Amino acid sequence: MDPVRNPYAPGAGQRPPELAGRDREISQFEVVLERVARARPERSMVLTGLRGVGKTVLLNTFRSMALQRLWGTGKLEARPDQSIRRPVASALHMAVRELAPRHRAPDRIDDFLGVLKAFALRDPNAPKGAAAGLQFGIDVPAARGRADSGDLEVDLTELFTDAASVAADLGVGIALFVDEMQDVPAPDVSALCAACHELSQIGGPLIVVGAGLPHLPSVLSASKSYSERLFRYARIDRLDRDAADQALLAPAEREDVYFKQDALDALYAAADGYPYFVQAYGKVTWDVAAASPIAAADVAVAAPEAEGELAVGFFGSRYERATPAEREYMRAMAAIGDEPVPTANVADELGRKPSSLSPARDGLIKKGLIYSSERGLIAFTVPHFGKFLRNQPG
Ligand SMILES: Nc1ncnc2c1ncn2[C@@H]1O[C@H](COP(=O)(O)OP(=O)(O)O)[C@@H](O)[C@H]1O
Ligand SMILES: [Mg+2]
Repeated sequence: MDPVRNPYAPGAGQRPPELAGRDREISQFEVVLERVARARPERSMVLTGLRGVGKTVLLNTFRSMALQRLWGTGKLEARPDQSIRRPVASALHMAVRELAPRHRAPDRIDDFLGVLKAFALRDPNAPKGAAAGLQFGIDVPAARGRADSGDLEVDLTELFTDAASVAADLGVGIALFVDEMQDVPAPDVSALCAACHELSQIGGPLIVVGAGLPHLPSVLSASKSYSERLFRYARIDRLDRDAADQALLAPAEREDVYFKQDALDALYAAADGYPYFVQAYGKVTWDVAAASPIAAADVAVAAPEAEGELAVGFFGSRYERATPAEREYMRAMAAIGDEPVPTANVADELGRKPSSLSPARDGLIKKGLIYSSERGLIAFTVPHFGKFLRNQPG
């Protein structure tokens, strides 16, 4: 059928034509926004899950919800080994820029921007001299003595407090979204949690909303024991049958296209409810089908092509990042099975000492390809990755 009208959207962070099966998380976040705006004690939310389940998309949806309530919002994507100081500064700059036109006291905004600039300039890699003056195009001079101590915990707390108070002037809040939160460097995680903790105690209307891989809760609690009281963890999972059908049917119906039951059965069997796969199989199936209603035979023709695209774009691009030793390690994991595997079994499989494999394992964790689901166990962060590896030629 007409590829131009094809509604499906496989791709990292791509907004799906229908956000299926996330009503519960959306209504929970509505409550969070309302409560924070009224200075009621509330835990912020952190979304966790495997790759391709729709965390980024949901985080973006949360951001739209905050914007609709006229909150200021900003977003950053954490990277391993990169301090969050500058990304946080840019995100808060964005958030306050959203609020500025409605604020009656321009001085308050300028004061905040001065503090923000001073905060950003404490980054060791910040431009010096004349270039520093142009930092983010903030044309007020950097303030002194606030958020510029160099101690990230102190500075974040002061910066958040000031940002929250600008938002409170307008009766709204600020939401700072942190994607790939498991990649925030350990000292920065600790500073971020401490700043959130402080803010929740004073009832400042600023929240940090995170998304990351399934081990993110253990990353947070390793850094601050009280992190469980700061964040409500929402595990984002594959879609159940109804939601997966809805993800396919609703966008098609808007184009007057329908699916036969056997086509939906075949698509669910192939995609296993994982949102990325639902979009990928849906997209190719639409293109190969000659006419509505789409039938199982169309899915059968489309499946190999969709698998080929996933092998390159979804699986292959990640596999490429691994070194030969890391690839060997993942192949051993895949050979053992699809459940989380004890690291000791991987060593057995390879006939090696567990200690000699630590560099490969740590490298893979850092690259976000595997995670430790509980002590001594590891699993792939990418659904169906084991199957992909088993189908690869030696
Ligand atoms: N609730 C949903 N319903 C249908 N498709 C979705 C849903 N959530 C995400 N998707 C699709 O899944 C893919 C992956 O989403 P993304 O947010 O990038 O996942 P993650 O951040 O968890 O890796 C995208 O193509 C997106 O359109
Ligand atoms: Mg994502």
